[in-house]
Amino acid sequence: MNILVTGGTGYIGSHTCVELINAGHDVIVFDNLSNSKETCLDRIFEITGKRPKFYCADMRDTDSMRPVFQENNIEAVIHFAGLKAVGESVAKPWEYYYNNVVGSLNLLSVMKEFNVKKLVFSSSATVYGDPAIIPITEECPLGTTTNPYGETKKMLERIFSDFQKANPDWYIMLLRYFNPIGAHESGLIGEEPNGIPNNLMPYIMQVVVGKLPYLRVFGNDYKTHDGTGVRDYIHVVDLAKGHVAVMKKFEDAPGVYIYNLGTGIGYSVLDIVKAFEKANDIEIPYQIVERRPGDIDACYSDPSKAERELGWEAQYDLEKMCKDSYNFAKKAL
Ligand code: NAD
Ligand code: WQD
Repeated sequence: MNILVTGGTGYIGSHTCVELINAGHDVIVFDNLSNSKETCLDRIFEITGKRPKFYCADMRDTDSMRPVFQENNIEAVIHFAGLKAVGESVAKPWEYYYNNVVGSLNLLSVMKEFNVKKLVFSSSATVYGDPAIIPITEECPLGTTTNPYGETKKMLERIFSDFQKANPDWYIMLLRYFNPIGAHESGLIGEEPNGIPNNLMPYIMQVVVGKLPYLRVFGNDYKTHDGTGVRDYIHVVDLAKGHVAVMKKFEDAPGVYIYNLGTGIGYSVLDIVKAFEKANDIEIPYQIVERRPGDIDACYSDPSKAERELGWEAQYDLEKMCKDSYNFAKKAL
């Protein structure tokens, strides 16, 4: 298929481009490069032997997206583009709602104009809030989000679903990612956050390359096996392969399809620290500090629906996630 990947030079987008190309798809990328670099396309070329066609376009500017659709026979869109830093979204709500929500509405209008009716959207486990069911199935009711970023995901899920109801010949795939970590095993692409990272693995990576002195573990009094927060970490390459797997749903009836993409296993912060130390034979200095506002005890998926309906299951274990993260950190950070 000819697939447009918005945000395709970003962390998850770039890994997905690689897996789509490996599976024989033709990939077109647009990104405004606000949180990524065009050189990422050279890395994708190094890995796959193919360089996706690239447009520097911005979802906030509908005219900038038109040539992408005019010049390519796009059959489906995988929509990663968006701002994603939870803390920043609290400080800059307008920017987050405008970029993520208005931007996605603009994308939808251009898709409509060019009669492209297949959309895969990057949602997040954050839509479950403090989950009512653990492990979390797709039937778990949506929860209360604690920040504008999470709210944009909830709003967009609703907007896309309402849109599909009114346009029943459309396909809307809502993929709820758990916690992606790791990098391509070549070490050529990975996550390079701007400034001091918010997320656990990017923070650990800064510590192990010597850019930050120690990891702050946010609280050890959660209701978990060792008191630190439990999450469902998934290798970004497995996550990327989930997007390839979902392409086959476009052969079924149009509709809204929702899938959790996780491993189904919950690891605590200290489990991650120990696994990283063991996998890479390196010590991670850390201190237990106060809880981070908005954090919950535990969040992990029941990924069995994706296995049943897509034939997709995460393959890589925590050791591989830690090794590939470190391999990338040593090369890139
Ligand atoms: P990322 O920041 O690496 O990639 C997002 C890309 O979108 C960046 O390259 C950025 O330049 C681009 N972008 C942002 N605004 C744009 C705009 N207006 N027009 C065009 N391009 C724009 O983030 P990521 O980790 O790869 O995340 C991809 C998607 O997955 C995001 O929608 C994110 O919210 C979602 N998601 C991420 C995680 C995670 O932990 N990384 C978890 C759940 C969901
Ligand atoms: C994981 C665990 C922290 C950093 C966020 C977003 C979510 C999704 C993924 C996009 C928690 C602890 C962290 C640190 C720590 N993103 N931690 N020290 O909070 O599960 O999810 O990213 O959609 O929407 O909310 O991920 O990596 O920030 O935290 O102790 O320096 O690590 O308290 O228990 P989180 P995270």
